[in-house]
Amino acid sequence: TVRVAVLISGRGSNMASLVEAAREPDYPARIALVLSNKPGAGGLETASEAGIATAVVRLRDFPDRAECDAEIDRFLREHRIDLVCLAGFMRILTPGFVQAWEGRMLNIHPSLLPKYKGLDTHARALAAGDAEHGCTVHFVVPELDSGPIVAQSRVPILPGDDPDSLAARVLAAEHALYPQALAQVARGEVRLTEA
Ligand code: GAR
Repeated sequence: TVRVAVLISGRGSNMASLVEAAREPDYPARIALVLSNKPGAGGLETASEAGIATAVVRLRDFPDRAECDAEIDRFLREHRIDLVCLAGFMRILTPGFVQAWEGRMLNIHPSLLPKYKGLDTHARALAAGDAEHGCTVHFVVPELDSGPIVAQSRVPILPGDDPDSLAARVLAAEHALYPQALAQVARGEVRLTEA
């Protein structure tokens, strides 16, 4: 089965949804490593409790981003990782690292890409007066939030929504979407190809 590393920076609720899905006997992947760039990330505890190997790689412990990403790469190879899932990983990875994992690294973003790349997606969707919002799983390419889309899920924007209520609705959709998208990639049903 396909060995997956999940990279997180915080809460790790998407990571937990992947761990949960991967417990099913017919799921085509298993979560073999959870790596955080923040030592205090709540998701690290969730992962340890689930018996999953964890690692912390902090940018400040390295002279530059390339060396930091080289350390992440070493962890991934040590754990014989096939696919990487970014899940609330809030650090931009270097182009060299991204290219090394191109086609084997996914990200989940809380918007209907190509709308609202970057941060504060929920507030921006509300400010624009959009009728719907959602989340996207995509292959990671060097340009931020720009890789080919694997899957999207839509949610309505309802009267009275604020960024928190909308984020909660999108997050529930994320928890359903990411395990499904990862399974498609792990089974080889969806693949990154040359343009
Ligand atoms: C999720 O909503 C994810 O889509 C978003 O951060 C949250 C992480 O929550 N990611 C980004 O904004 C990436 N730029 P989680 O730690 O509970 O999975």
